[in-house]
Amino acid sequence: MTARAAARLARESRNWLAPFLDALSIAGPRILELGSGEHYADSAVLSERGFTLLACDRRPAHTTSLSVHAFAADISRPLPVRTAAVDTVLASLSLHYFTWATTVEIFAEIHRVLRPGGALLFRVNAADDLNYGAGIGDEIEPGYFRSDGRYGAPCKRFFTEDTVRAALTDLFEVSHLEHRSSDRYGATKQVWECLAHATSATRGPGWSSNRKPA
Ligand SMILES: C[S@@+](CC[C@H](N)C(=O)[O-])C[C@H]1O[C@@H](n2cnc3c(N)ncnc32)[C@H](O)[C@@H]1O
Repeated sequence: MTARAAARLARESRNWLAPFLDALSIAGPRILELGSGEHYADSAVLSERGFTLLACDRRPAHTTSLSVHAFAADISRPLPVRTAAVDTVLASLSLHYFTWATTVEIFAEIHRVLRPGGALLFRVNAADDLNYGAGIGDEIEPGYFRSDGRYGAPCKRFFTEDTVRAALTDLFEVSHLEHRSSDRYGATKQVWECLAHATSATRGPGWSSNRKPA
């Protein structure tokens, strides 16, 4: 990564996280980041603010200067984290690679690792994210396209407001949901940004990951 790209990444991390810092402080100090990427840009901002960071990715890079505990995990599988162990789950641009059934399972797994009332802060590709492949290629499921395979993922989902809300099911209550533009990776990227809180709903008998988007 060039110095310029690294500076842009750091600036964009500070900017997108800034409006949520108070809500994350209220949620508590323990944050789990899913799909952190190798630069830990978001984790760096939050560890500087005094949060305790667990960060996972498929193959996490070594962290040197940050107080971030990095570990390897496939976020489409059950997470190696105890139930109700964290106050916040953060996922920037890492929850949009999965089939609908897996997406709903991932949100349920996030709910499991959050303490009751804990926060989920995430952002995902929006359906108008034209610079990053929206509407291009084979559509395997509604909004889910075969992609260029970057980040080890053969497919990408592009969310609408309705599909963001559908993925959250009744396990989360939406506190903030907004369509935004980002220059994180250079070309303008369209995303949905969401802060939600874990409800007391549980996956009881009859709960099914095969629910379709609304
Ligand atoms: C677009 S990058 C986002 C990285 C960083 N969070 C950011 O905002 O710049 C997507 C990240 O999700 C990770 N990822 C994709 N599928 C994953 C999976 N099944 N398990 C763990 N990490 C995954 C990729 O390795 C990559 O680091």
